[in-house]
Amino acid sequence: TTVEWEAESYDMGGHDTYMHKEIAEQADAVDRVLRGRLDDRFATVRLGGLNLDAREARTMRRVKILGCGSAYHAGQIGAQMIEELARIPADAEPASEFRYRNPVVDPDTLYIAVSQSGETYDTLAAVQELKRKGGRVLGVVNVVGSAIARETDGGVYVHAGPEVCVVSTKCFTNTAVAFALLALHLGRIRDLSVTDGKRIIEGLRRLPGQIAEIMEGEERIAKLAAEFADAKSMMFVGRVRGFPVAKEASLKLKEVSYIHAEAYPASELKHGPLALIEPEVPTVAIVPDDELLEKNRATLEEIKARSGRILAVAHSEQEKADDTIVVPRNEPELDPVLMGIPLQLLAYHTALALGRDIDKPRNLAKSVTVE
Ligand code: AGP
Repeated sequence: TTVEWEAESYDMGGHDTYMHKEIAEQADAVDRVLRGRLDDRFATVRLGGLNLDAREARTMRRVKILGCGSAYHAGQIGAQMIEELARIPADAEPASEFRYRNPVVDPDTLYIAVSQSGETYDTLAAVQELKRKGGRVLGVVNVVGSAIARETDGGVYVHAGPEVCVVSTKCFTNTAVAFALLALHLGRIRDLSVTDGKRIIEGLRRLPGQIAEIMEGEERIAKLAAEFADAKSMMFVGRVRGFPVAKEASLKLKEVSYIHAEAYPASELKHGPLALIEPEVPTVAIVPDDELLEKNRATLEEIKARSGRILAVAHSEQEKADDTIVVPRNEPELDPVLMGIPLQLLAYHTALALGRDIDKPRNLAKSVTVE
């Protein structure tokens, strides 16, 4: 069986679909995941239910994040944030792969299970396997009191509210922000400076307003989506912080519009995938104004030279792109939270143009509670 929200019991708030409602309410949702958790006094955060004291947190030598689908992608963004802010080696892995590879469970590793529903079978089974082998497991979960929330030793609730659409949007974004809170917490227990702690806190406070600003550009994104609706396939590329954003945007497009899409690290294109670039295969490039800007611009030139149409998501107009969606600049570590939001809208409006069943895409369920 699958866990399906009783959709009728949730108000659509005047939107045509739950997906549109849930994309539109992200500014409020992010406000909720931040509420009461920012501690200006020590330039850190308060995470009540984490159940990981500072002494134990300092002994952790690695972080392994596990989840499926969008939860896995949010975990990849979280791993990057934890490594950058807390300087602890961190990585994310699909929970479904982890549980079947007879993993070596390390007592000095902090495991984090990520799940919107808290009922995904593969993620729950990974948590149970970890606990069977003595692993230290926290949860980053949306549904309070769900199986994974109960099975883990503590964690961070993402407070996105009920997410009805099978296609995850606001929970993905709130999970990425929850990881920013956790990364800041772990960083300030270790060597992250007060200055950097304050910088991240101020960046977090700017997120809801910046999300609202991005939503104001929806009409233009809808027009762009109409131009991509007849693509036979699409390529999504990004580097380092931008790569999980590209992966999640690719998944959104696939699952809601049924257009094939792939995500690659931009640096990987020349090792093969560039052969796929042709006029019928547009590319979406994540181009933050960070230390990789010139590298990303070189990628745009590589693609342009092979006549692929390019849509860039960036902090300023990209002359090599046919179109650029400009998003507000936050802190480099937090930019991935914002850069994916226009691409949720791109996927939504592409699916709308194609007449898809947006809240219940074919073959999919909201939470996969079977193997
Ligand atoms: C996301 O758009 C998908 N519907 C799917 O990948 C989902 O993220 C995945 O099944 C994990 O679900 P969970 O977060 O409830 O564990």
